This record gives sequence, C-alpha cells and structure tokens, in this order.
Amino acid sequence: MRTLSLELRPLGYSPEEEAPLVHAVYRASPGYFTLIGMELPTLEDVLQDLNTLAQDARRRAFLLFQGPEPLGYLDYKLHYPEEGDATLSLLLIREDRQGQGLGRRALAHLVEGLGGMERLYAVVYGNNPRAQRFFLAQGFRYVKDGGPAIQWYMRPL
Ligand code: ACO
Repeated sequence: MRTLSLELRPLGYSPEEEAPLVHAVYRASPGYFTLIGMELPTLEDVLQDLNTLAQDARRRAFLLFQGPEPLGYLDYKLHYPEEGDATLSLLLIREDRQGQGLGRRALAHLVEGLGGMERLYAVVYGNNPRAQRFFLAQGFRYVKDGGPAIQWYMRPL
C-alpha cells in the first residue's frame, strides 16, 4: 500500500483564511479539550491566537495535511526555555485519525526540520496518559512536573 506523504503547512501568514481550518481540526478533536478541562476554542479564539502567532518570531504552528483535509495541528517554540531548545506545546491529530501512525510521522517531520536545535521538549497538560505513552514511545524521557497537571518530557536531537 502506498503511504501518502504528510505535509506540514505553516500558519500565521493569513489568519483569516487559516482560522476555519484550525477550528475544524479542533472541532474534530473534542476529547482532547475535555481531557484538559477546557472548552473548545471558538473560531474567534483561534483567529486571535493566529494573530498573536504572527507577532512571535520564535513560535511556529502548522496544519498537517494528507490530501485536501487538515488532519492535525502542531505548535512549538524555538529557543525556549533555553537557547538551543525547542518546545512542543501541542501535537493534535483529529480523533477519527488517531492511532494510525500520523502522530509519529508528524513528529518525525518536525524533528527533521529542527536542525541546529539540541533538545526537543514536549509539555503535556492534564491527565493525559495516552500522550505520555506516545512521547515515551517516541524516545522522550520524563523530565519534571511543571505544575499540578503539567509534565515536561525531553528528547535530545
Ligand atoms: N497506548 C499505547 N501506546 C500508544 C498509544 C496508546 N493508546 N497511542 C500511541 N501509542 C504509541 C505507540 O507506540 C505507537 O507506535 P506504533 O506506531 O508502533 O503503533 C506510537 O505511539 C505512535 O502512534 P500514532 O498512531 O502515531 O499516534 P497518533 O497519531 O494517535 O498521535 C497523539 C498521538 C498526538 C497523542 C494523538 O493521539 C492525539 O492527537 N491525541 C489527542 C491530543 C493530545 O493529547 N496531544 C498531545 C498533547 S501534549 C503535546 O502535544 C506536547
């Protein structure tokens, strides 16, 4: 079977056009927001976030595509918390596409594009055992708690 290639399309260039696509991915992933005790962001919230993204030179966000429909979202920050670090704040695969290897492939793409960085952190919010298992399976190790429901994982690059 042919594996369709996964495309990471950068966000922050045209927030008005991008916001509905990001919002569609969020709407297809309600379980994640329930898990972290947050209401599903509104389209307005997403638009506001994309506007702030365009003003933060270190932050990068992408929509994941395999064909015309966006199937995931990825958000990280360069040189954070220290120079040479990158920190992933969210990798989200829409619920009906989870468990098909897409998260693993998206992470591999991200790592390929992080030349020059020394460490990749992943910040896991809430009680999210699936994400914890996922990052451990992808070569990360647990580093520390960053608060009552925040765990930091790290993988050398
Ligand atoms: N139990 C045990 N291991 C698992 C599980 C599970 N439920 N799910 C994934 N894994 C491991 C397996 O080792 C799997 O290896 P395999 O490819 O050999 O089967 C590997 O992870 C990769 O699995 P994928 O199918 O690539 O995982 P998926 O595409 O579902 O992506 C993710 C994982 C990103 C956690 C996805 O399920 C998701 O979007 N969940 C909801 C949002 C979320 O919680 N994101 C993480 C937030 S924290 C952060 O982003 C820093």
